[in-house]
Amino acid sequence: MSNLINKAQKTLLGNRRKGYTLPTNNKLYPAQWNWDSAFIALGYSYFNLNYAIKEITTLLDGQWKDGMVPHILFHNPNTNYYPNYTAWNCGNKIRSSGITQPPILATILKLILDKNKISNKQIKEIKKIVKKIIRFHEWFIKFRDPKKTGLVSILHPWESGYDNSPIWDKPMEKVTIEKNLKYKRADNKLIKPDQRPLNIDYDRYVSIKNNLRKNKYNPKEIFKSSLFNVVDVGFNSLFLKANKDLIQISNKFNLETSKISDYVKVTEKNILKLYDKKKGIFFSKDIRNNKKIYIPSITNYFILFADLNNNLINNKLIKNLKNHNKNDKYFFSTIKPSHNSFEENRYWRGPVWINCNWFIYQGLKNKDLKFSNYVKKKTIKLLEKSKFYEYFSCKNGQPMGAKNFSWSASLYLDFKISPN
Ligand code: GLC
Repeated sequence: MSNLINKAQKTLLGNRRKGYTLPTNNKLYPAQWNWDSAFIALGYSYFNLNYAIKEITTLLDGQWKDGMVPHILFHNPNTNYYPNYTAWNCGNKIRSSGITQPPILATILKLILDKNKISNKQIKEIKKIVKKIIRFHEWFIKFRDPKKTGLVSILHPWESGYDNSPIWDKPMEKVTIEKNLKYKRADNKLIKPDQRPLNIDYDRYVSIKNNLRKNKYNPKEIFKSSLFNVVDVGFNSLFLKANKDLIQISNKFNLETSKISDYVKVTEKNILKLYDKKKGIFFSKDIRNNKKIYIPSITNYFILFADLNNNLINNKLIKNLKNHNKNDKYFFSTIKPSHNSFEENRYWRGPVWINCNWFIYQGLKNKDLKFSNYVKKKTIKLLEKSKFYEYFSCKNGQPMGAKNFSWSASLYLDFKISPN
């Protein structure tokens, strides 16, 4: 076994706690995160299928009664993380945050099922998982798209997973910061502050959170009253892909998904309304302020992963993607470097993130095999040079953020081992 494969497995095992895995073993993220756990499960599936299933089961143990799966589960309340469980003040069975994260579980589960021999005992577990994921997706459809537009909203930048992306700059400017806000960040004591979000961003994150809390996280209520409400093309692409995958898995178990199938049809049609034909790019929409958002973010290309049946658009996107940061040694930068919001080292405003590369790679495989293999090769090379950090400079590959970062290790395993 190659050294780094071995190290990737050890990274995951080193971050593992009772039935779930931390995003990293430093103090930065001392809890279970939603989409991290999905990537982590994929990593485990290459050497311990039971751990993979357990990771997902534990995450779904924190599902709310209405179907939402929270973005954080605080299994261990004794940490200095902010906002901690008391700041959120919610949860069902397990203390949690009051918002969600990109719903990629169905997609990951499908990949795991396609690649593995599953025992009868595991099948039983998986059927329970699938039922819960169906409830999660139905929650999105019901509460995050009450007007049935085919596109779901996020109500906090943290729900996207790309917390301080420039996509949110304009909608965030409009968020009034609560008076006399008192809280203590821990993240910028652990990681260099120039690699983390700004204080003013945090003030707004906390103000949005407090407003959701004031409304008791009532899903109908907060859709109308949240200080932040955005339809993001990247997020919707991930949801579209996950809905398609969920239908396929559910069929194997004879589970009913007609609501989801109907929704996929509406999404496939209406996501095209976010396409600017002239520019050949997708944009997002600030629902609260009724504005279009044009930011050259790599996450806009997640639409390739959603497999739109439209060669014209796909080809145009791939052409633009090849130019995204072609003059840099490493790709893909989160933001196109020529854009004025680009910052080489700051979190989701410039660095390369392995999960973004992974979505793009997956999306390219059935559209441009040569380019997809190139993306894979470059990503593997970056990880082999810089190891399993959280994010990397696109200029020199400098590793940044947390070390021993679980999803970087997991996706390395997938890039290296997956047969296709
Ligand atoms: C940060 C990232 C988010 C991730 C979490 C744990 O909040 O922005 O995407 O899930 O850390 O790694």
